[in-house]
Amino acid sequence: MHKFLSEDQAHIEKLLENIVVEANRFLSDLDTLPVGAVVPTDIDSINIPDEGIGAHKTLGFFKERYASWISGSAGPRYYGFVTGGVTPAALAGDWLVSVYDQNSLGSDESIAPQVELDTISLLRQLFGLPDDYTGSFVTGATMSNFVGLALGRQWIGHQIGIDFAEKGLWGADPINVFSGAPHSSIYKALSMLGMGREAITKLSCLPNREAIDMAILEDVLKNQNGQPCIVVANAGTVNTVDFDDLAAIAELKTRYKFWMHVDAAFGGFAACSPKYRSLVQGMELADSITIDAHKWLNVPYDSAIQFTRHQELQAEVFQNAAVYLGQEISDSNFVHLTPENSRRLRAMPSWFSLMAYGKQGYAEIVERNCQLAQWLGTQIDLSDTFKLLSPVRLNGICFTLAAEQDTVSLEVIKDYLNSLKENGDVFLTPTVYNDIPAIRVSVTNWRTTQEDMEIAWRAMQREISDNKCQNS
Ligand SMILES: Cc1ncc(COP(=O)(O)O)c(C=O)c1O
Repeated sequence: MHKFLSEDQAHIEKLLENIVVEANRFLSDLDTLPVGAVVPTDIDSINIPDEGIGAHKTLGFFKERYASWISGSAGPRYYGFVTGGVTPAALAGDWLVSVYDQNSLGSDESIAPQVELDTISLLRQLFGLPDDYTGSFVTGATMSNFVGLALGRQWIGHQIGIDFAEKGLWGADPINVFSGAPHSSIYKALSMLGMGREAITKLSCLPNREAIDMAILEDVLKNQNGQPCIVVANAGTVNTVDFDDLAAIAELKTRYKFWMHVDAAFGGFAACSPKYRSLVQGMELADSITIDAHKWLNVPYDSAIQFTRHQELQAEVFQNAAVYLGQEISDSNFVHLTPENSRRLRAMPSWFSLMAYGKQGYAEIVERNCQLAQWLGTQIDLSDTFKLLSPVRLNGICFTLAAEQDTVSLEVIKDYLNSLKENGDVFLTPTVYNDIPAIRVSVTNWRTTQEDMEIAWRAMQREISDNKCQNS
């Protein structure tokens, strides 16, 4: 055996202790760590060592070369994109995933697939989904959308007498996909699935909303003249956290032929709290649902869940025929249900966190995050410096910099956000909403407190007044 392999193996306990020391250092700094690192652009390249340097020195070298630029994205004032943190229990579960190194593809010599099934069952209960939904873990909401749309594509094939999984899309008519405010990952998924980005038709939303106009959707479905299609319903849009009327869309299924996919990557968590549950009423009637775990479930990357009530289609699309892998289709034979074959026991951090904090823990995280978003939204609404662009419905805020005439440019917004990032107190991301260059805030981390929001708010105001002074 190579000398460093045997040396590291002999001293594994010490190595793990050193990792714990580094983990403790990072986690105790996390609340005050600058939100976003300013990464140098001139980092020199490195060569693979001939003999290696052993795990102990590798840890030292890693810290020296990279540790200063690890961002505070897991911390309490990082409100960019839609970014969750990691609960203590999720961290414990995640570490053990690598220690156990189980392949959750479905073989019966490990309990791993059962852990995943149990986790899916816990999540079904958290979201109030009926028992006929099966699910599996994938790497993120993009892949979950990919699976949901792949099932929709296969369902359409059944309606028109073509098995797309076997024959491909060659020669078939294009598949129509309709949505009001789809996430960019829907386009990516359609590209990967051979349906093409142009398959999607964006329908009008209600005035000043990102929720689909139901009358327009119904007209479009009527005009399909019985041709089956896909509707991507949105539960929590990234700009203004808006929700389609899921129950009304589901009701249309009684009259028109379409596959209903709900992208509830983070909005699905509204179901965790009685205060917000009505926003996702009707989600339980979908054909497929996307839920992200590395967002509001606060487990580490990369983790999401796809739910469906059409497992038979899933098996048609993802069947991996090889005698040595077994042919049986069952809830736990994930090799025949997901894009991957071999897969880490990705469910485990979620299992740990759901057991550790339960329904009440997640209701508390969701309600606290939403209340803090409300608070910040109110400050923005009351101030002369900023302008709220949409009501705060859940955990997101969409606003812009107030301008005396017209609107500020996207460049000005980006410069402002860059300065905020460089000052280290709060991280926000730019967007364009209703043609207005804007800023979005997403409060999705279990660590975030009122004090964090106040620090963030002070930093947002300070940056404006500092810039004004510099400009005058
Ligand atoms: C509504 C929605 N769908 C899909 C995604 C894509 O998620 P991921 O980055 O986990 O693939 C996101 C990410 O923010 C999202 O908010």
